[in-house]
Amino acid sequence: MSQRIPFIAGNWKMHKTAGEAARTARDLVARLGAVSDVEVMIAPPYTALDAVGREVKGSPVKLGAQNLFWADEGAYTGEVAGGMLIDLGCRFVLIGHSERRQYFGETDETVHRRIAAALRHGLAPVMCIGETEAQREAGETFSVLDKQIADGLKDQISDGLETLVLAYEPVWAIGTGKTATTDQAQEAHRFIRGKLAKQFGESLAERTRILYGGSVKPENIAELMAMPDIDGALVGGASLKAETFANIVRYRAP
Ligand code: PGA
Repeated sequence: MSQRIPFIAGNWKMHKTAGEAARTARDLVARLGAVSDVEVMIAPPYTALDAVGREVKGSPVKLGAQNLFWADEGAYTGEVAGGMLIDLGCRFVLIGHSERRQYFGETDETVHRRIAAALRHGLAPVMCIGETEAQREAGETFSVLDKQIADGLKDQISDGLETLVLAYEPVWAIGTGKTATTDQAQEAHRFIRGKLAKQFGESLAERTRILYGGSVKPENIAELMAMPDIDGALVGGASLKAETFANIVRYRAP
């Protein structure tokens, strides 16, 4: 049995005002009670971090942000620095989500800079990787994942990556209702763990949690979690309602 604690993370993307987010967070905290066998995180929009942070304080639900900028401060209109996120109680930060790569010019190089900034500030990075449908069809899935990890985590040493979480999100499965089969997901996760072992050693690879993301819902979480290299999930659409997300967190319940 792996020693990795399951991790279920919600990505609220650009949804909910601060008030709506706070209400959902309150509802989630009430529904989850003292959940202890699963680590839980929610990442609301920046504008709701303060309000959600107040709701989850003292509960098992941890706070995450959806991005950060790599400089610590300065003339970068519209950007948010790691220290600002720590100040609001964030413990985690998503980095390199495919929507950032697709719509906002995120590259492996910018991912690399953000990872370094997150680690410098003591934020646990949740680094998102995954292939597009065209890349999968062209047989490039593994080479894409290999490069995203090599370049996103270049110059890092295993000692600095204790808090790293990876999220494998095949782009064609995000928000589409199409989930990778459990075998496809397991195959990719196994490859990712092998790549981590090659780059940083077996010990870090064994300890690092690799989440699956892409149309995760209460109906498919249990079979995904049954796979040996799937350690959790990054949930978009199905995390927006407290009841649905709580059912995903409680995937072990009969
Ligand atoms: P989805 O999104 O669950 O809505 O497919 C997942 C994600 O983008 O993190």
